[in-house]
Amino acid sequence: MSPDNTSSPDASSLHWVFGYGSLIYKVDFPFVQCAHASITGWARRFWQGSHDHRGTPSAPGRVVTLIPQARARCRGVAYQVEPQVFEHLDFREKNGYQRRSLPIRLEPCGAQVSGTAYVADTANHAFLGDAPLAEMARHILRCAGPSGSNRDYLLQLADALRMIGEEDEHVLELAAAVLEQSMGEEC
Ligand code: SIN
Repeated sequence: MSPDNTSSPDASSLHWVFGYGSLIYKVDFPFVQCAHASITGWARRFWQGSHDHRGTPSAPGRVVTLIPQARARCRGVAYQVEPQVFEHLDFREKNGYQRRSLPIRLEPCGAQVSGTAYVADTANHAFLGDAPLAEMARHILRCAGPSGSNRDYLLQLADALRMIGEEDEHVLELAAAVLEQSMGEEC
């Protein structure tokens, strides 16, 4: 979706939201402006269960969350939005994610702004945690939900990260493992 230029919102009511997963490539909300951005002290990991988008309650998919990790840097996209957009985002991210306030560094200017990211912490009911790479790839290959296959979530995220010049080892390795396993299944 493109920026909403139909009205000029009150600048003091605007908020920055940092997207690091599907919010990078599935932009189904209006925004005033967006920028490539990063946060520090957090790592993107496919450790969250998805009951409502890329899986079901009985077969949850695997989607990304942010895990605290000293010195880690996570790149994504920051959107400046009007407050009412949170109604939509809270619903979209309802399965275990909570809004978390954090500093966001905007690119290319380097300006630091206060913002929000949706984080699913280790105590939430849908948290899956770490697993061996091949197991996570198998898991992702067999799951699907109302928003589509878990495989597409991963591959779309890997493409979106490539487009912003981000080499996220965890995502790239998982995408390679999924592609390798799906080729094996076709043979
Ligand atoms: C995000 O994209 O920022 C949150 C996680 C997701 O919806 O994939």
